[in-house]
Amino acid sequence: MIGTDINFAASILKRGGLVGIPTETVYGLAGNALDEQSVLQIFTAKNRPHFDPLILHFADFSEVEKYVLSIPEIFHVIAHENCPGPITFLLKKKPIISDLVTSGSDLVAIRIPNHPMTLALLAQLDFPLAAPSANPFGYISPTTALHVEKQLGDKIDYILDGGPCEVGLESTIISLDDDGSLVVHRKGGMEVDLLKKYGLPLRINDLSNSKPSAPGMLLSHYAPRKKLYLGNLEELAESFGDQKVAILAFSDKSFIPKGYPTKILSPDSDLREAAKNVFNYLRLLDEDEEIDVIIAEEVPEEGLGLAINDRLRRAASSEP
Ligand code: TXA
Ligand code: MG
Repeated sequence: MIGTDINFAASILKRGGLVGIPTETVYGLAGNALDEQSVLQIFTAKNRPHFDPLILHFADFSEVEKYVLSIPEIFHVIAHENCPGPITFLLKKKPIISDLVTSGSDLVAIRIPNHPMTLALLAQLDFPLAAPSANPFGYISPTTALHVEKQLGDKIDYILDGGPCEVGLESTIISLDDDGSLVVHRKGGMEVDLLKKYGLPLRINDLSNSKPSAPGMLLSHYAPRKKLYLGNLEELAESFGDQKVAILAFSDKSFIPKGYPTKILSPDSDLREAAKNVFNYLRLLDEDEEIDVIIAEEVPEEGLGLAINDRLRRAASSEP
C-alpha cells in the first residue's frame, strides 16, 4: 500500500515491519536496524545475499556516536557541511550493531537522508533504519513509490510516497583510511570533486571485481532484464538485425540515429537532470514490450557523470 501517513509508517517499523521510504537518492526498503528479525526480512524481501551489508539511516549526525567507536574529526566537518545529503560514512561499529547489518565487517555504513518525510519519520523512532535500495537484488534502483510498489509491494507493509527522488543516484560512500586518505567506495549523488576541498589524499576504490571494497559493488548491477549495450549509438543501432532497438541518449547534442524509440537523459546536457532520469528511463525501456535491446551512450566523465557512467557500465555488464 502506498500513502503519505508518517505515523502509520512509524507504527509499522516499531512493531518490526518493513516500509518503503523516500530519500533524495533512491527509495529505501527500511526496517529497525536494531532488530535482527527486521534486518533478516529486508534481506529476504530483496533476495539479497548476506554478504552485501546495509546502510543505517539517522535523523541527525549527532545520533551516530551511540553506535560507533569513534568519529574522525574530518567526518564531523564533512557531515556538518553535507548532511543531510547523498553521502554515506563507513565507521567502526559498536557491538550494538549486529554483524548481520554489516555482513561481518567491523565497519558500519551511516547516512542522513535529505528528505523531509523520512527525516520526520526518523524523528519518531528511537532506533536507526537499515535501508538498502528498495529493488530486488541486482535490478535498477527505484526513484518513485510506484517503482517500489511494482517490485516489492507484496513483500512490504507500506510505502511512504515522497514523490520522485531529487538526486536519482545512490549516495557516495566514503571511509578514512589508516594512512589518512579519503577513500571513495561508491561514486554517487555527492560529486567526488566536492571532497577535494578537505585537503586529504583522495582514492577511488570502487573497482568492480569479485572482491570489491564495498561488497555490493558487483560489476553486474543496476541491470535491466533486457540486454543493454554501451557505446557509439550510430554504430550500435545497426548491429542487431531484426531485433527492436531502443536508445538511451545523453542530450539533444548527441548523434542519435533516427527511427528508434528514444529517451534523452537531459536535452540541455545537464548532468543533474540526467542523474535524476537515468534509472527511471532504463526502467521504462526495460518494461516496454516492443523493445528487445537497449543501446546507450556514456555521458561526460565529470561531476555526477562519473556516477552515471558507473551505473550504465554495470547495467551493461553481463559478468557476475
Ligand atoms: O543512497 C543510498 O545509499 C541508498 C538509500 C536508500 O539510502 N541506499 C543504498 O543501499 O544504496 P544499498 O544497500 O543498495 O547499497 C549499499 C551499499 C552496499 O552494497 C555496500 O556496497 C555498501 O553500501 N556498504 C554498506 N555497508 C558497508 C560496509 N560496512 N562496508 C563497506 N561497504 C558497505
Ligand atoms: Mg542497491
